[in-house]
Formats: sequence, C-alpha cells, structure tokens
Amino acid sequence: MDYFNYRDQQLFAEDVAVADIAGQYGTPCYIYSRATLERHWQAFDQAFADHPHLICYAVKANSNIAILNILARLGSGFDIVSLGEMERVLAAGGSADKIVFSGVGKREDEILAALKAGIRCFNIEVSGELDRINALAASLGVIAPVSFRVNPDVDAKTHPYISTGLKENKFGIGIQQALQEYRRAAKMDHIEIAGIDCHIGSQLTETRPFLDALDRVLAVVDELHAEGINLHHLDLGGGLGICYKDEQPPQPDEYVSAVLEKLAERNIDILLEPGRAIAGNAGILVTRVEYLKPTEEKNFAIVDAAMNDLVRPSLYSAWQNIIPVRQDSAVEPTNWDIVGPVCETGDFLGKNRSLSLSQNDLLAVRSSGAYGFTMSSNYNSRPRAAEVMVDGAQTHLIRERESIQQLWAGEHLLP
Ligand code: LLP
Repeated sequence: MDYFNYRDQQLFAEDVAVADIAGQYGTPCYIYSRATLERHWQAFDQAFADHPHLICYAVKANSNIAILNILARLGSGFDIVSLGEMERVLAAGGSADKIVFSGVGKREDEILAALKAGIRCFNIEVSGELDRINALAASLGVIAPVSFRVNPDVDAKTHPYISTGLKENKFGIGIQQALQEYRRAAKMDHIEIAGIDCHIGSQLTETRPFLDALDRVLAVVDELHAEGINLHHLDLGGGLGICYKDEQPPQPDEYVSAVLEKLAERNIDILLEPGRAIAGNAGILVTRVEYLKPTEEKNFAIVDAAMNDLVRPSLYSAWQNIIPVRQDSAVEPTNWDIVGPVCETGDFLGKNRSLSLSQNDLLAVRSSGAYGFTMSSNYNSRPRAAEVMVDGAQTHLIRERESIQQLWAGEHLLP
C-alpha cells in the first residue's frame, strides 16, 4: 500500500498534486511519501510483536538524511556499508548502538570510526577482517561486537534468482569456515561474539529461500551452542521484494510469521535489514516530456530524466511502471520508448509503454524510492535531481537540485 493515487485524473502524493510539486521544484525530481515510508517500516516492526527484534533499514536503498531521520524517530536501526553511510545516520539522529556494519571491504579508518562511535555490530565477511577488527579494538582499548555473515549456499536450482547467497558469490563465509572463525573469535581479547547474519539476495518474491537459509543458519547456531558459544542475535539481512509490475511478494507480516514459526522457543533476537521493501514504493521520479519523436521504427518520448537519474532500467533491464501525472483521455494511446537525453543507446526508463502523450506532459516513474537517487550520477555533467518529501498536505525540499557550479566543485586547474 502506498499514498500515490489519482484524484480527478491528477496524480497525488498524499494530499499534494504531483504537478504542483513539479511546478515548484522543477524536474526531474524525486518525490517521497512520508506516510508510505512509515507504514512500510512499521509493517516489519509490528509483525514481531513482543519477540525481541530490531529493524535495521538498509541505508544504501535511500540515504537522504530526512528519510533516515524519519525512520530514526520511529526507533529504527540501520544497516550500513561505508563510513559515509554511518556519518549520514549519525547526522540524521540515528543511534550508533543500533547500527550494523555490513560489507566485504571495510577499511581501517572505517572500522576505527565505527569502534569509536560504538556501533551495535560488525558483520564480518572475510577472515582477515576479524584480525583487523581485533587489532584496532585493542589499539583503542575497546571490545568489538561481531557477527559472521555466513553464506548459506541456498540451492540455485530451486531459486535461481538468488544471487548473493551462493558459494560462487563474493559475499559471506562458507558454513564450515564460519564455525572455525567463531572458534578463533572466541579466543580473542578484544572481540565479543554478538550474533550471526546472512543476506541471500534482493527482490525475493517468495518466503521459501529465506526459510531454507534460516534452517542452515540455525544449524550453525545450534552447533556453536553445543560448543559453549552463544549468540545473542540472528540477522537475516534484507531482500524482501516489492511489486514493480505483477510480482506478489509476501507481505512483511507473512514473512516475519514464517520466520518466528521456525524459531520455535529459541531465545534469540532477530534483526532484519530491509531496504527496498521500506523505501521502494515510497518514492516516484517525476520527469517532463521534452520532445516526441515518432520514427518509422519506433516512437520515442524524450524526457528530462535519464540513466544518470535512475539507472535500474539501463543497468538491470529493470521494469518500472511509468504513469501520466495527468490522465488525458483526449489523446490516443501510442506505444512509446521513454528515453533520456544522455548519449547512450542504453539510456531509457521504459520501452514500449502505451501512453497518451503530448510534449511538456509530466510522467512519474513508480517504485523509485529505493536504489533510485542513491545510484544516480553526474554522467554527461547533469546535476543530480531535487528530492522532495510529502507529509500530508505539506511538501519539504529534502535535497536541493545540484547547481551547475557544484559539478566541478573540488576540481582544480593546473597552475
Ligand atoms: N543487507 C545487505 C547485506 C545487502 O547487501 C542488501 C542489499 C540489503 C541488506 C538490502 O536489501 P533489500 O532489502 O533492499 O533487497 N541496486 C540493486 C539492489 C542491490 C542490493 C544490494 N544489497 C537494485 O536496484 O535492484
């Protein structure tokens, strides 16, 4: 459920007409709905009822500090993958003791900063990272809380779309090796074993693979327990999918119930790291049609947003719905390729979309709240888009459109 709906053929974000926002802040422009964001976070949080848990929003999905702040106010934790993401969370009012630090290549300066801030857990992905964290914690005279990201090698045959939880992926540590790492960690003076984690992939539309992974992780938990190593939390990562077109992913409460059922009477905190399921359908990208270019082969609608603003269609051939901001029944629908001004054939937002279009019309690319702005770039020296948060009948500019001068700020001419 989200709060982007038509009223009298005009697209609204909560109680504000999208056309008015585009008029005020220009295009291309990302528009988010606060109510949608909060609802999605709460769906995860409430599903756990009184089972001890922490929802650690995956910052990479959308890291605008206003979004982090809205979630921090709800009590959210955060899953980060860089020092930059940690500083964003802290600048947004998030608590360090609710941060988990994932990622395969943590640098020394990043680990030191996270130790000083006092984060909740390092999710270790490489054997050498354990030694590095232990040494750096010793240099500061602190104890580092750690978890190992195990790679559950969930059967690719049954779930071929899972790409990060397989042996051949760069992520995580194989189960046998993880057991050895836990034994090593248990003997280290500056390490506290806090938990175990996994993340098997993104945009999953079934519960089964999560449960298969959970079974394998629980087997590790039991084996460690038998050896006297007790884990305080189990972090199942992110990955719950959303509806872009006609996917029917499980709702957060169905997913969480299935997880809780598997845990039976176990006394272990659960952490989740959802990104897309919280932010994805809480945002749209609004763009204006600059030109219509019908040709013998194809009809192109050239819009002012491009692959630098939203790269998912170009990069993954991802399909995102493109809808008119004002529904116009007077114009015959035609099949259009919605393309941007960037000098690449791969610069498109959608292909073969049946739309009633005229020059200067506004279009909204749906499901753009996650992996939209965060993956945007300045390619073709295009300033990055503005971001606007709608809250009921109010709008707030949460990121100004980049200026032309900002494009070369920090660059230097030779003397
Ligand atoms: N935790 C870890 C360790 C992750 O690697 C990820 C995503 C998440 C949590 C959040 O996953 P989510 O709940 O959002 O599926 N750029 C791609 C998605 C890359 C996801 C990478 N890892 C896209 O636009 O589809």
